Amino acid sequence: MSVDTLITNIGQLLTMDKKGPVKGSAMNELPVLENQAIGIKDGKIEWIGASKDAGDLKAEKKIDAGGKLVTPGLVEAHTHLVFGGSREEEMALKQQGIPYLEILKRGGGILATVNATRKASFEELLKKALFHLDRMAMHGITTVEAKSGYGLDKETELKQLRIAKAAGEQHPLDLVSTFLGAHAIPPEYKQDPEAFLDQMSELFEAIKAENLAAFVDIFTETGVFSVEQSRRYLQKAKDKGFGVKIHADEIDPLGGTELAVEMGAISGDHLAVASDAGIKALAASDTVGVILPGTSFYLGKDMYSRARGMVDAGAAVAISTDFNPGSSVTENLQLIMSIAALKLKLSPAEIWHAVTVNAAHAIGKGDVAGSIARGRKADVVIWDAANYMYIPYHYGVNHAKTVIKNGVVLYERQMIR
Ligand code: NIG
Ligand code: FE
Repeated sequence: MSVDTLITNIGQLLTMDKKGPVKGSAMNELPVLENQAIGIKDGKIEWIGASKDAGDLKAEKKIDAGGKLVTPGLVEAHTHLVFGGSREEEMALKQQGIPYLEILKRGGGILATVNATRKASFEELLKKALFHLDRMAMHGITTVEAKSGYGLDKETELKQLRIAKAAGEQHPLDLVSTFLGAHAIPPEYKQDPEAFLDQMSELFEAIKAENLAAFVDIFTETGVFSVEQSRRYLQKAKDKGFGVKIHADEIDPLGGTELAVEMGAISGDHLAVASDAGIKALAASDTVGVILPGTSFYLGKDMYSRARGMVDAGAAVAISTDFNPGSSVTENLQLIMSIAALKLKLSPAEIWHAVTVNAAHAIGKGDVAGSIARGRKADVVIWDAANYMYIPYHYGVNHAKTVIKNGVVLYERQMIR
């Protein structure tokens, strides 16, 4: 048998080849294969076996993994990828104790980014999105979800979605797009959020026609959209054939987690202040809880999502950066894995499920991303680590050594000596 690329001498291999989403205690069951090799052909996984048996394979290119850890490319299930400008001045406001929702109320926060995004050109925003995708890839991510939501008018929301589509076409990473037109109430609709939601739902048709998004999302939060408004809006989206997601129970416990389950959402995201009833409902459902502990950290909260309780109750949990210019400004999902260990008390095994197979399911890509298996896309990371526990343990730095997407080496880290 011949392959294009052969990765040999893999110390630990996590294939994550499980039927997902993986729920509850099964998230802690992590098969680890040792001394393995992987053959890649035409961008796909062709062969997986013991390193000692790989000698029979002819390979054009050989990569020696040096006894290190190899995993599937990470799946980033929740980002606000396309936006103009940045908001570093908000850090000082936060230090003065001004809450996130108060900054938004004053026209800052999300609305500041809306202004910058409306002003920026297509090319400018595309270039910036591609830059962030590069950085994600360099950190071992091979599939990314991207939300709109910094347009809040028909024209700019479509512009954002078209930029995400162009970015997905131009960048080697796979991109899944979500329409988050219902991200905040723009000043021009302050008195009439219902009319604003009507405007946004009028876009569903065009978004479908241009194939601009797979999912529709809404920010269900105090001062933004109520549970009732969210239910009606998401029902319209479902009627048009979209999958749905919710920014739920991020700051105030409104019952967004329960709503996500009730609506059959593919994911309920944040869930930082989910109620006991919400956690119970989540555990009994197929909705994936996408937990974003970097946001709690970055907003300076003491309260983190009860992800531990969710997993103990039997739910499927994913972990993501929530990359955006306000509440979580990082492309480094490895850092979020450390925060998940330290603040959510998830085990390394649970965390690996949360950033691969479960994250893939949270964005409807469970059958193509998040695992290493014969016939699947060859999205593979060789890490500068001997074992899987090391990544959350050694925090805040990039451990990705070689990042392979569709069988092609995208990134190879270089040291100074
Ligand atoms: O997921 N919660 C709403 N949206 C983002 C923050 C967006 C921003 O601050 O720009 C979030 O935290
Ligand atoms: Fe978000």
